[in-house]
Amino acid sequence: MSSLNDKIILFVGGAVGIGRAAAHLCAQRGAQVIIADLDAQQGQKTAAETGGVFFPVNITDPASVQSLAQQIAARFERVDVLIHTAGILQGAFESLDEFSPETFRRVLDVNVTGTFLVVQQIVPLLRKARRGVLILTSSGAATGGSSSFAYGSSKGAVNSFAITLTNRLEAEGMRVNVLSPGNIDTAMKRSVIAADVQRRGADFEKAVADSHLGDPAGVAKILAFLASDDADYVRGVISTR
Ligand SMILES: NC(=O)c1ccc[n+]([C@@H]2O[C@H](COP(=O)([O-])OP(=O)(O)OC[C@H]3O[C@@H](n4cnc5c(N)ncnc54)[C@H](O)[C@@H]3O)[C@@H](O)[C@H]2O)c1
Repeated sequence: MSSLNDKIILFVGGAVGIGRAAAHLCAQRGAQVIIADLDAQQGQKTAAETGGVFFPVNITDPASVQSLAQQIAARFERVDVLIHTAGILQGAFESLDEFSPETFRRVLDVNVTGTFLVVQQIVPLLRKARRGVLILTSSGAATGGSSSFAYGSSKGAVNSFAITLTNRLEAEGMRVNVLSPGNIDTAMKRSVIAADVQRRGADFEKAVADSHLGDPAGVAKILAFLASDDADYVRGVISTR
């Protein structure tokens, strides 16, 4: 089991879901946890549970992300690992004819522009680490198709962004990985199932059971490994069940 002693790990989107599960496991393995999220109530709760600190952030707002980086810099000398799991899924099962441009823009704003803004502001703190690690989050939807035109598109863009990022940052000794989860039991995935059962007139609990959702704790084990020095030789996109 890889120790995370002395690692300062920033979980953007770590209030709930996969990010929260990863924050818990990384804290157990010795990491100093920093949670940053739009959801202050859940973010503070997760920070308290993990012995970490919480900072509010809206990743679509450049000033908010810049302020996050400044607050972290004032309190910590560096960030060793960025685990960026913040994201939204909207427009599930909407037809091409009905899909609103506003929804498309909103999803790309959070999932793509938000990822870019976080990376841009946090890389200077990762440069202060011995070997900074960036873990971004895509989805099986990027390559396998999505319930939402906007969501699938956004995750394809994250994969492409990570390729350019890797080309630039590897030369500086940083590692970039992309997590690509399958179907994991979180509020996001349950909202997609809810949209599906509503249009089909099906039973929600049965649909959840039939989906065989994975446990966020399972993905957390992969994230904790990727955050560790043992993952030094791992490259590119890592898919989970
Ligand atoms: N759950 C799955 O099955 C699944 C599958 C593939 C990919 N993913 C991806 O994994 C990541 C985590 O997903 P999850 O299921 O844990 O989702 P979740 O909805 O449970 O958590 C997402 C977190 O992002 C935060 N967030 C959203 N918008 C934000 C903003 N503008 N600024 C700051 N924080 C913001 C939310 O407050 C929340 O804490 C996402 O990027 C998602 O697209 C999830």
